Amino acid sequence: MTALLRAIQGDITTIQVGAIVNAANSSLLGGSGVDGAIHRAAGPELVHECRILGGCKVGNAKITKGYRLPAKHIIHTVGPVWRGGNNGEPELLASCYRQSILVAAANAIHTLAFPSISTGIYGYPIELAAQVAVSTVRLSIQELPAIHEVVFCCFSSDDLHVYENVLAQSGA
Ligand code: AR6
Repeated sequence: MTALLRAIQGDITTIQVGAIVNAANSSLLGGSGVDGAIHRAAGPELVHECRILGGCKVGNAKITKGYRLPAKHIIHTVGPVWRGGNNGEPELLASCYRQSILVAAANAIHTLAFPSISTGIYGYPIELAAQVAVSTVRLSIQELPAIHEVVFCCFSSDDLHVYENVLAQSGA
């Protein structure tokens, strides 16, 4: 079975999937943007579990429970800060998507939703980030039949258009 990839516009904290992915920082202790929204919606138990994870390196991913979210789990990953594109940003961003999917598969999670990692406060250009996101997810799920569906959850309609174009070009 081929996994379904699709883009939607919405608030990732409302999506009912096996896991939503959080665009966190390396402390894993919360922040603003989607990270702040996820911590607020999940409730204070989330930061307690995050404290014992001991942080997360850029490009890595760690899992927690979803607490008050409709999603059962949260996979926290740390995207790169955009510094012009020649400082390993594409590889590190690809690693976020790949590691998140590996963590999902290892935990028998079949459906997941990603925000557009690094494209807010971390400044990664959305067009470039969407290409990395879609191509990396496509490649990663090829060998992981446990993953049935991946949703790209875009906060703005502009971002949704970018993802829809990239998905169409890559054959979704
Ligand atoms: N649902 C879906 N997407 C959202 C939501 C939401 N509720 N809220 C924001 N976005 P950002 P980053 C989008 O800045 O660039 C935090 O402080 C947003 O429009 O959240 O990876 C962390 O602690 C954008 O498209 O994450 C880190 O310090 C995307 O999510 C830092 O920000 C990512 O924007 C990480 O920066």
